[in-house]
Amino acid sequence: MSIIKLPGLIDPHVHLRDPGQTEKEDFYTGSRAAIAGGFTTILDMPNNKIPITTLILLKEKIKIAKQKTACDIGFYFGSIGDNLEEFDKVKNLAYGLKLYLNQTTGGYIINEKLLRKIYKEWNRATRGKKPILLHAEEDVLQSVEKTLKETKHPTHICHVSSKKELTKIIQFKKEGLPITCGVTPHHLFLTEDDLKKAGPYGLMKPSLKTKHDQEYLWKNLQFIDIVESDHAPHTIDEKESVKPPFGVTGLETTLPLLLTAVAEKRLTINDIIRLCYTNPAKIFNIKFDYSNNQTKVEVDLSRKYTIKNENLFTKCKWSPFNGWKAKGKVDTVFIRGIKVFENDRILTNPGSGKII
Ligand code: NCD
Ligand code: ZN
Ligand code: ZN
Repeated sequence: MSIIKLPGLIDPHVHLRDPGQTEKEDFYTGSRAAIAGGFTTILDMPNNKIPITTLILLKEKIKIAKQKTACDIGFYFGSIGDNLEEFDKVKNLAYGLKLYLNQTTGGYIINEKLLRKIYKEWNRATRGKKPILLHAEEDVLQSVEKTLKETKHPTHICHVSSKKELTKIIQFKKEGLPITCGVTPHHLFLTEDDLKKAGPYGLMKPSLKTKHDQEYLWKNLQFIDIVESDHAPHTIDEKESVKPPFGVTGLETTLPLLLTAVAEKRLTINDIIRLCYTNPAKIFNIKFDYSNNQTKVEVDLSRKYTIKNENLFTKCKWSPFNGWKAKGKVDTVFIRGIKVFENDRILTNPGSGKII
């Protein structure tokens, strides 16, 4: 045994599908997956079946989460440009505004003109304080430059996957723009070469890229602010259908993969703390209560095991990393001093987590 202590980690990019698509996941199963993966705080995306674009919908979602969540959870708000009057009402409830500039699950896409309008209004309502998160792939990323320069609003680019995207972000950063970015474990550990084996379980947005792109991400880790799982569950039936939806699970495999990279000396424990705790807390302004040092994860760095679908807590029970060998395992998790995970078992109940 080689146990080390980490702070309770933060995953600022998950899709728990509740309400509306609870056949894929719900707040209870998703938050259990988070805890099993070493994440005690998560931020949930607004692309529910009915997108979260009004105060009423956000309040409803929070109410449901309160009854079910086992870990701490906060929320983002969504917009396609027709709900600007809601911004003032939700600004204290949401951790940021999520905008989609490419087609992805939920399909609420906006163009550059709308983007500018939304940016200005969110910037005014939140006085430049709450970030805007963008799904903006490849060339589309270029189209946000003008708006970014004009508004200087803090912007987080989600799931950076390619050399082209990261090069652009590095340029924005060097120009002094308030921009941050995240990468997913699947873009760090899988490439398009894995698609043959993974089939529909390797399909997500952005898609898996080349070895060359992947190497560029690893080489430029100092420009990457966070690791975000983009946990995007779909049922096995949906994934096996003729038109499988995009998205893969990630909450339970992120930390094991990162710990394995530490064992291989590709990463340090301090990198994990920076990418999965310090930076997410800073970027999304997550404030912990006084008992925060009682929220922690103990990992066994020496434990070797195989990631297996059947051992996952996520409702959909599959991972693109099924069969992968890992070194480094979540041993015990505490939230506010209460032991919530031990011996591969969740020890807590629905509703024991907090809405943050
Ligand atoms: C996400 C989903 O399924 O909600 N899918 C995905 O492939 N990443 C949406 C998203 O993050 O773009
Ligand atoms: Zn996305
Ligand atoms: Zn996502």
